[in-house]
Amino acid sequence: MIKKSNKNICCIGAGYVGGPTMSVIAYNCPDLKVNVVDMNADRINSWNDQDLSKIPVFEPGLDKIVKKCRGVNLFFSTKIKENIAKADIIFISVNTPTKTRGIGAGYASDLKWIESSARQIARYAQNHTIVIEKSTLPVKTAETIKTILNSSDQDDRNVLLKDKKTFSIVSNPEFLAEGTAIDDLQNPDRVLIGGEDEHSIKVVADIYKNWVDPNKIISTNLWSSELSKLVANAFLAQRISSINSISALCESTGANINEVSGAIGADTRIGHKFLKPGPGFGGSCFKKDILNLVYLSRFYGLDEVADYWEQVVNINLWQQNRISSIVIKNLFGTLSNKTLAIYGFSFKANTNDTRESPSITISKNLLREGAKLTFFDPKVSKKQILNEFDEFACEDNLLVASTSLDAAKGADAVIVLTDWEEFKDLDWKNIFLLMRKPAWVFDTRICIDQKFLKNIGFKVWTLGTTD
Ligand code: NAD
Ligand code: UGA
Repeated sequence: MIKKSNKNICCIGAGYVGGPTMSVIAYNCPDLKVNVVDMNADRINSWNDQDLSKIPVFEPGLDKIVKKCRGVNLFFSTKIKENIAKADIIFISVNTPTKTRGIGAGYASDLKWIESSARQIARYAQNHTIVIEKSTLPVKTAETIKTILNSSDQDDRNVLLKDKKTFSIVSNPEFLAEGTAIDDLQNPDRVLIGGEDEHSIKVVADIYKNWVDPNKIISTNLWSSELSKLVANAFLAQRISSINSISALCESTGANINEVSGAIGADTRIGHKFLKPGPGFGGSCFKKDILNLVYLSRFYGLDEVADYWEQVVNINLWQQNRISSIVIKNLFGTLSNKTLAIYGFSFKANTNDTRESPSITISKNLLREGAKLTFFDPKVSKKQILNEFDEFACEDNLLVASTSLDAAKGADAVIVLTDWEEFKDLDWKNIFLLMRKPAWVFDTRICIDQKFLKNIGFKVWTLGTTD
């Protein structure tokens, strides 16, 4: 029997959540030993790369924390079995994407990675272990995990009563946003801990109390915690779809979306945050979590609730298709023999993550109209961009440039799709000179001074205005 250290944490899943979250725990809790495990050996190798620019998640500030803690009390490894066995506390931080086939396809979460994690824990854990749901999960998933964990000893008839494994399950969803993950983890609005036994809730709360104000630590029952995570994402995404729907109305009426957003956000009951119009929300979670909420609502017979939330996702796709149509219309209704420069491929600034990026849908729409695309993104690699376009793999209609100027050469339009700060200060004069005329800028993020561009000679379309 492996002896536990009493302060040993294992996290299954070294992704965008597991990696940064565990790094911040290790950083703030020098007495804890944190082992992050993953079945993806390439990912673990990258986390262990001596060159910190190669760790697999780009997040401002993450490299410094990894540098300080890695090899001290933070370890990345593929040794899943050994690290589960040593752990007192196990975070499950694996992917929970939308199911692509079978019952609930297109809506429900695919829990196969959660199930495999639970089975690994059931098999290798020793004595008592606190198992924490860090992944975003459908409400009631803890029930499934408990059933798997509690079946563990039935597999092993030789187990002595004194060696019997026991588990407590806790829900501790993560609210970090990519690009600001370290700041969000260091200064969270709240930490949510849902559980059934006070002791386990306290153990988890005590970890966070090393750096989080205890007043920000909320404890609830398991189901409230699981559901609150889905609902938080749905409410945030709903605000974006709301403001994006109004951006179209502004374009039809002469109102200006930034002015409207500023005016309504000044009402403290509404607030300014998450009212930034754009090409629709991207990222791996908003869409999948809302669709999951839609699925759960239908499952419980609440069709009106399901329809209400599904509309948030429908408006998001509508906004992306609407922007694509506007580009095509302004370029004389055809993109044949035209080159369009796509500025920005990550789903938001300050991340290299491209999952569900609006750039993907919009680029595919433009390719279907016969456009040639040249991409430029400061953090997304050529390989990562081209991976998204397997079905368009004709050699000369997709190019990835390493500078904004290279991407603009001979282009008819620049389409700004990610709000990278550096796009404001590009060499727009030279970009204009390199382009075919009339040279267009379509600014879907409202991030570049329209007057400045027009003075250079560009034709400009900016989201949510008639200017
Ligand atoms: P990810 O795909 O980046 O990482 C998940 C990792 O888990 C992968 O590296 C995968 O190899 C590993 N994995 C899966 N099953 C495994 C197993 N049985 N054993 C070992 N490793 C296994 O996913 P992510 O973006 O980190 O998201 C993880 C969860 O957190 C999801 O439920 C997501 O909804 C939620 N979440 C994500 C964010 C975000 O910003 N990305 C924020 C909050 C919550
Ligand atoms: C979002 C939530 O903000 C996190 O709280 C949550 O933990 C996370 O999802 C998750 O569960 O995965 P994230 O997707 O990383 O975080 O980034 P956001 O800042 O929320 O942006 C999501 C998308 O909405 C981006 O495409 C962004 O450009 C867009 N957005 C955001 C807008 O178009 N307007 C806004 O006002 C805000």
